[in-house]
Amino acid sequence: MQKRKLGRAGPEVSAIGFGCMGLNHHRGPALRNDDAIALLRAAFDRGITFFDTAEIYGPFTNEAIVGDGLAPIRDDVVIATKFGFRDGRPNSGLDSRPESIRRMVDASLLRLKTDRIDVLYQHRIDPEVPMADVAGTVRDLIGEGKVMHFGLSEADNQSIRLAHAVQPVVALQSEYSLWWRQPEETVLSTVDELGIGFVSYSPLGRGFLSGTMGENTSFEADNDQRKTNPYLAPENRAANRPIIDAIQSVAKKKNATAAQIAIAWLLARRPWIVPIPGTTKIHRLDENIDAESVEFSTEEMDAIDAEFAKITPHGDRYATAP
Ligand SMILES: NC(=O)c1ccc[n+]([C@@H]2O[C@H](COP(=O)([O-])OP(=O)(O)OC[C@H]3O[C@@H](n4cnc5c(N)ncnc54)[C@H](OP(=O)(O)O)[C@@H]3O)[C@@H](O)[C@H]2O)c1
Repeated sequence: MQKRKLGRAGPEVSAIGFGCMGLNHHRGPALRNDDAIALLRAAFDRGITFFDTAEIYGPFTNEAIVGDGLAPIRDDVVIATKFGFRDGRPNSGLDSRPESIRRMVDASLLRLKTDRIDVLYQHRIDPEVPMADVAGTVRDLIGEGKVMHFGLSEADNQSIRLAHAVQPVVALQSEYSLWWRQPEETVLSTVDELGIGFVSYSPLGRGFLSGTMGENTSFEADNDQRKTNPYLAPENRAANRPIIDAIQSVAKKKNATAAQIAIAWLLARRPWIVPIPGTTKIHRLDENIDAESVEFSTEEMDAIDAEFAKITPHGDRYATAP
């Protein structure tokens, strides 16, 4: 697997990372712990060295699984986690107060069974806590050796600049895909200018862009957050069908699957974009990793842009603010 550098000052990671959330959170039935651990090891054996989790996934239990899965290969992988919600629960509101960040980091280190967090993201901007205090706390944690690098998730340009001035930010993690291209209008030019890496979450549109999800697919598990994502409501899945048709037409030409096109397109957008697709299945892990071998010429990328410019996506990502 090729490597990419996360930002000018960041670590080197596999060009495609692994989103660990769905192992037991928000994406349907949780895997048994030993199956989740086997999948993490399989990802590593296939060249993935970048693993993404968060305090709120589970809550807490996802970090513990990631810690168990990666403990024997700890020094060969880059582990990213996130803080920023009160008591680790999004429904309780935001909380990036310095004392909370410190408490969370100590608890995450224990769950992750490690002495350092390689990339620590603020999960969401907390309007109640000045960015200088957040970035200053992470800077101090870096000084203490508990954290190696600072990242932000779903941050706006002003927050990125304020944070970067206090402690260099190595990665911005936000939703970005063939389907959700808002970062192109908002933050991409800023991270480009500042030399910050971009980690694309939900690169498969939470599964939709793979073309395997129809209008009649139901998200039955209680924990499957996709039943609340407006763009995945049945009527929007029907209205968004042209997106799948367009991806499948590219896939046919490139002798690839739709999921591979979605991932390969992100890799081709910028050399510092790292998509982190998630899956609970080994055969899909293989499929997603093979996206690395799909390359696009400039003409092909322009043709994809022209095709997608004709399509209007339907529905927002989140029912409330992301
Ligand atoms: N920072 C944030 O706020 C934030 C928000 C959301 C996610 N994330 C991170 O990003 C990671 C990935 O995001 P995500 O899970 O939302 O979306 P995603 O990676 O776009 O999609 C994952 C879904 O697609 C399915 N899938 C994966 N590969 C497939 C393939 N080749 N063919 C068909 N279906 C496939 C998976 O189902 P199966 O398991 O059945 O394969 C899973 O339900 C998460 O694990 C998390 O680490 C971060």
